[in-house]
Amino acid sequence: MKLLLLNGVNLNMLGRRDSRFYGTDTLDGLEWKVCQYAAGLGIEVVCKQSNIEGELVNILQQTGCDAVIFNAGAYSHYSYALRDCIECIEPQVIEVHLSNIYEREEFRHVDVLTDVCAARFYGKGVQSYLDAVDYVAQNLNKK
Ligand code: DQA
Repeated sequence: MKLLLLNGVNLNMLGRRDSRFYGTDTLDGLEWKVCQYAAGLGIEVVCKQSNIEGELVNILQQTGCDAVIFNAGAYSHYSYALRDCIECIEPQVIEVHLSNIYEREEFRHVDVLTDVCAARFYGKGVQSYLDAVDYVAQNLNKK
């Protein structure tokens, strides 16, 4: 079982973003926690990040993985390109957000990716990602 952990726009800035919403982990720290946790469940994780919408589409179109945990960042709120991509790719995509987007600015309440994702976890910081790993382990783990 191979899992892609894909982080989108501005998530490379974790550790320097508002800690009230995003905590204090850097992206490396977050990736390390997810990899450790997944390894304990027998899941191998490949980590990628991009700030570029088209690059995220390219990565999603050729993951080589069984499932994807995806935090698209601000693209979640308006990227029909990512939505259309997720709709037509083979691996299931599980959406995550560190913050609770429904308790923040109104523009964050719109999420155009949700209905094409298999599940979503948000508002619990790094734990949102770990809950997504649990979902993959329980619902998609083949080996
Ligand atoms: C985010 C929420 C988005 O609204 C924001 O633009 C991000 C991060 C989150 O993880 O809480 O960059 O996806």
